Amino acid sequence: MEETPAGQRILSGMRPTGRLHLGHYHGVLKNWLDLQEANDAFYFVADWHALTTDYEDPKGIPEATWEMVIDWLAVGIDPEKATLFVQSAVKQHAELHLLLSMLTPLPWLERVPTFKDQQQQLAERDLATYGFLGYPLLQSADILIYKADGVPVGEDQLSHLDVTRQVARRFNWLYGRETDHDARVEAALRKMAKKAASGFKRARSGWREEGDGKALERGRALIGEQANLAAEDREHLLGELEGRGREILPEPSPLLTPDARFPGLDGQKMSKSYNNTIGLREDPASVQEKIRTMPTDPARVRRTDPGTPEKCPVWELHKVYSDLETRSWAHQGCTTAGIGCIDCKGPVIEAIKGEQAGILERARSYEEQPDLVQTILSEGSETARDVAKDTLDDVRSAMGLSYR
Ligand code: TRP
Ligand code: SF4
Repeated sequence: MEETPAGQRILSGMRPTGRLHLGHYHGVLKNWLDLQEANDAFYFVADWHALTTDYEDPKGIPEATWEMVIDWLAVGIDPEKATLFVQSAVKQHAELHLLLSMLTPLPWLERVPTFKDQQQQLAERDLATYGFLGYPLLQSADILIYKADGVPVGEDQLSHLDVTRQVARRFNWLYGRETDHDARVEAALRKMAKKAASGFKRARSGWREEGDGKALERGRALIGEQANLAAEDREHLLGELEGRGREILPEPSPLLTPDARFPGLDGQKMSKSYNNTIGLREDPASVQEKIRTMPTDPARVRRTDPGTPEKCPVWELHKVYSDLETRSWAHQGCTTAGIGCIDCKGPVIEAIKGEQAGILERARSYEEQPDLVQTILSEGSETARDVAKDTLDDVRSAMGLSYR
């Protein structure tokens, strides 16, 4: 991310995967920590999303939720600064999801790359379900219900953000137009020269029917050039040109988390599925053992054989954890056989233990106070519900669905 935003509504979620590892910390959670400082951040456990793939065996979800939340708190996600909650405790997500499903064209969901990819990757599960197809739409509801400005996500989620923006735009267009919008556009067009008015119509169909960005530019310029239009006329024409109505559900921006590719024990990206992780709350003895037995450059068979750090996964960890001095000690020592691999691993072990010390301590205090964690979540869910209810009121009234 270029610059940490401030003063924004931030919303992000994670599927409950149980205890997190160092890769989650360096890749996602540090970013969440930054964002909670100067923004109104909402972080939640996407437990319904877990059901889209794990519906056959959902028993593990509550425990995975619990452990993940403890990890969030342990790294310093602060309930005084951010709102923490569980998706299924805020039923409004489900109602918005349902309402949005009515206006979402199927192809928008069918063409999301994760839909086919995941079906193939998880071929042993039957993912030809309604819920799985709707995954990105449920995610859209998660985001839109808080009118989020910014959504920190990884690259793999960008297509879901695209769906979210498209759905918001469609909603706003369908229900956000004022009842006299068409008449006012007509009136504004009548104030324009015939040629300009037909130029506008061409630009409108170029953009709205063919998605031609140049047509959009032309249309905007044309509106700007009309000297005898009132500000209101321009507003209506712009809305007409862009195909957007009054903004009931604002379009969120993705805040792309750079793919840090935190190195795992085998040099591949750290990931549960590669079985190469170090847990955030892993106890120090186990961390030590895992690093001690990490593979190194195979050229270093004997202590006297020089090696190439670039071929060694331990070196990747030095790049994350060691200062310049330690790195050059390790590099030099490796290439000249001046140090052994066990020596080389020492500073990495110490650095990871140091990083985990504070995390472990905070985790322990939450593990000992389950009631406190429960309270954090129920208060967070209540705050979230208040916001979600307001949005749903707006949504229902825009759709003309307010019964009273
Ligand atoms: N799909 C996200 C993931 O797999 C999790 C998620 C669900 C999410 N709802 C969200 C992320 C809303 C951001 C905003 O990582
Ligand atoms: Fe890897 Fe360090 Fe051993 Fe070199 S000395 S192979 S960098 S562990």
